[in-house]
Amino acid sequence: MIQDAPGHAAESAREPMRAIRVRVNGVCYEREVPVRMLLADFLRHELGLTGTHVGCEHGVCGACTVLLEGEPVRSCLLFAVQADGAEITTVEGLAPAENQLHPIQEAFREAHGLQCGFCTPGFLITVEAFLRENPEPTDEEIREAISGNLCRCTGYQNIVKAVRLAAEKLAAARGQGREGGDPEWRRDTSASPCSETKTRGC
Ligand code: FES
Ligand code: FES
Repeated sequence: MIQDAPGHAAESAREPMRAIRVRVNGVCYEREVPVRMLLADFLRHELGLTGTHVGCEHGVCGACTVLLEGEPVRSCLLFAVQADGAEITTVEGLAPAENQLHPIQEAFREAHGLQCGFCTPGFLITVEAFLRENPEPTDEEIREAISGNLCRCTGYQNIVKAVRLAAEKLAAARGQGREGGDPEWRRDTSASPCSETKTRGC
């Protein structure tokens, strides 16, 4: 049985806390967190957003990727306090509604871009940021973009196909958007964060 090192519990008890405020998937949260709590643990354990997976915990596998101010980051390499005041998107924030998938999620499903699905949230977030920057990528660019995400099941072939298909679906949605307003898959995060604050106990 693994036991805490002597004095570990007392040390944890003394760990300084700090209040942070973040906006995650359009909702504002205020929490008091240990200063050494990882952002991945904060999302999963404090906010219950377990779609962000934790594989290696040292920045290698990409399973914990989330968007911080729109940019993909490894949430296992950041402390929660470093995200104070930031806008974060997790995989739960991709789909525009509970019963609707984001085009990238649809593409992964249709192209069989996943098997066990453990790596998938990290891929989806990485691909979302990538296709915003490069909406018409070549296969080589797709492979380069996903090279920081590890998948032990698929062999990557179908993930590349899924990204290609996602690019097509997003292009089609943008076309619809030009003609008839915003594409319907785009989540509305314009609500005031303060009006939706979810503090502990509410
Ligand atoms: S868990 Fe963060 S990169 Fe692997
Ligand atoms: S689908 Fe299993 S690790 Fe990628």
